[in-house]
Amino acid sequence: MLILGVESSCDETAAAILKNGKLCANVINSQIDIHAKYGGVVPELASRHHLANIYPVVQETLAQAGVSLDDLDGMAVTQGPGLIGALLVGLSFVKAVSLVKKIPYTGVDHLAGHLFSVFLGERQPQFPFVALVASGGHCSIFQADAPLRYKLLGRSRDDAAGEAFDKVAKLLGLAYPGGPVIDKLAGQGDPQAIKFPRAWLGADSLDFSFSGVKTSVVNYVNRCRQHDQQVNVCDVCASFQEAVVEVLVEKTILAAGQRGIKQIVAAGGVAANERLRTFLAARCQQEDMQLFLTPKEFCTDNAAMIALAGSYNFAETSQLSTGMDAYSRSPILR
Ligand code: KG4
Ligand code: ZN
Repeated sequence: MLILGVESSCDETAAAILKNGKLCANVINSQIDIHAKYGGVVPELASRHHLANIYPVVQETLAQAGVSLDDLDGMAVTQGPGLIGALLVGLSFVKAVSLVKKIPYTGVDHLAGHLFSVFLGERQPQFPFVALVASGGHCSIFQADAPLRYKLLGRSRDDAAGEAFDKVAKLLGLAYPGGPVIDKLAGQGDPQAIKFPRAWLGADSLDFSFSGVKTSVVNYVNRCRQHDQQVNVCDVCASFQEAVVEVLVEKTILAAGQRGIKQIVAAGGVAANERLRTFLAARCQQEDMQLFLTPKEFCTDNAAMIALAGSYNFAETSQLSTGMDAYSRSPILR
C-alpha cells in the first residue's frame, strides 16, 4: 500500500511516502527562520507559508519516492490538534487531491502521530507500553494498548514542556525555538548550580506543571540584573533543563511502575533533548525497564509519523467525502 502523509499543524510543511510500511521519502519545509524574529509562531504567517509550500513539498516528496499522485492508494493528513488555519491548508490540499484523483484519505491525530513515531526507528516496542509525548504544544503520558487504543494517564496543567523551553530561551535572549539552543548551552553549564523547583503535584500524580519553574527562572534572572550580577546563561540552561527533565523522567517511570508495564517510549520535540534521553536511559536501566527512544530526526514534526499512524486507521476511517473538518483540541486528550 502506497500512502502519502501530509502534516501542516504548526510551522512545518511536511510530506512523506510510505510503501507497505517502509519510508520512501520524507520532506520537511521548516518555517523556523520566518517565525524566529517574532520569538514564536505567528499563526497567519504560518498559514500563508503552508499555502505557498504545500504543493512544492508534496511534489518533491513524490519525486524522491519516484511515484506520482496516480500511484497512491491513500493519503493521511493531520486533522488536529494545531493551528486551525495551518491545519486547513494540509486538509484542504488532501481533500482536493482526493476529489480529483478519487484517492481515499484519513485524518490523523497529531499526538497519535507522535506516539507512532517510535515505530520509524529500528528498535520497536511491543504493546502495551507507556509513552511520554512532550512537544511544544503538548506534554502528556499515555498508556498504549494497541495501535489505536491509547489511555491518557497524565498531562500538563499549564505550559507544555517545549513551550517552557521556548519561553525561558526567549527570556535569556536566545534564538527560537529554544529547546535545541538550551540543550546545547546546557552541555557547558552546571545542572546543580541553581536549584529550580520541581512541581510533583502529589506523590502519585502523573500530571505536569511547568509554569512554576518558568517563573522561578524569570525571578532568578531579574534578581541577578537588579544586583548587577552577571547571569551565567549556561548554568541557567543546565539547571532549568535538569528541573524539567527530572520531572518528565520520574513521572514516566512512575506511570509505568503503577501499571506494571516494562516498556517505555519517548516522543515529541522535547524527546530530542540529550539530557532527557540519557536520564531516561539511566532510570530505565535502574528499574529494569526497556526504553524505546524515537530517533531524533522523527521527534520534531514530520509527515512520516502521520503516514504511519494513518496506515493503521486506514481500514476503519478512510473516506472519499470532502466533509472532514480540522480540530484544535485532541480527542485523545479527553
Ligand atoms: O513536536 P514538535 O516539533 O512540535 C509540536 O508538536 O509542538 O516540538 C517542538 C518543540 C519546541 O518547543 C522545541 O523547543 C522543542 O520541541 N524541542 C526541544 C529540543 N528540540 C526541540 N526541547 C528540548 N531539547 C531539544 N533538543
Ligand atoms: Zn508535534
